[in-house]
Amino acid sequence: MKHFLDIHTTSLADLRKIIDTGRIIKEARAGKPKGALDQDTPLKDHVVALIFEKPSTRTRVSFDVGVRQMGGSTMVLSGADMQLGHGETIADTAQVLSRYVDLIMMRTFEEDTLLEMAEHATVPVINGLTNRTHPCQIMADILTFEEHNGPIKGKKVVWSGDGNNVFASFAHAAKQFEFDLVFTGPPPLDPEASLDGLYTTVRDPHEAVDGADLVVTDTWVSMHDPQSARERRHNQLRGYQVNRALMDSAKPDALFMHCLPAHRDDEATSEVMDGPNSVIFDEAENRLHAQKAVMKWCLES
Ligand code: CP
Ligand code: NVA
Repeated sequence: MKHFLDIHTTSLADLRKIIDTGRIIKEARAGKPKGALDQDTPLKDHVVALIFEKPSTRTRVSFDVGVRQMGGSTMVLSGADMQLGHGETIADTAQVLSRYVDLIMMRTFEEDTLLEMAEHATVPVINGLTNRTHPCQIMADILTFEEHNGPIKGKKVVWSGDGNNVFASFAHAAKQFEFDLVFTGPPPLDPEASLDGLYTTVRDPHEAVDGADLVVTDTWVSMHDPQSARERRHNQLRGYQVNRALMDSAKPDALFMHCLPAHRDDEATSEVMDGPNSVIFDEAENRLHAQKAVMKWCLES
């Protein structure tokens, strides 16, 4: 049984297989209505539980549609509505769900919750974001980068902003896929220490972005951050906004990415988000294709 819990806990061979499968799955669907079944339906007769303890648009819709396209059916569950949110243990929930469904995707707060679910489930578990990582997003982002600008190996990727969960999965990917990752942001919002050695830090954003092949940012206040930190974070991060001047420091064909949802004109200007270097909606679309490949991989023996 194979869980998809993180980029650094999945082998490069498997990660590469998933990305390549995602590309093939995408190509095979070109021009088809969104609700049409794929030719290959590995989820036929399968039920997938999608558990959300935090809000979601992309993860929720892309997993739901992806399962349907591969012939399966879904159950979207809110953590708060489950007994999980009222004291039932994760271990018991994992064992019960495993008697009903073939696959579990979970978005939660603490990483330990996801790991406990995986430890006790007897079906594959997929990480749909925790406070620490967001691996499905980065699988879609690598697929997107390579579609536009070729192999990511050896390329320069610059993250400007908060050293958060999405950054952490980029850092894990940098090691696996062998690209150079630069973090630029204020010291209080540095990435967690466990990621040291996977990236370099350059405090000046223009210096950091010099020669970049890809510039990435994310919200300044994540779902698990206290709203009381909002003003302080905005003050700390204002200088790291991705705007036209910053993109001008990157290579002319550099891509701009943001996992979305975005706060337009905070972490990135609309001019950049809607500009010629931006691939934000390709990233969103590729969540669908990459995650279908993740689910297929999980179910293969
Ligand atoms: N990027 C992403 O995971 O978006 P949602 O929060 O809408 O799922
Ligand atoms: N860093 C963001 C990503 C949302 C998809 C958050 O955790 O809220």
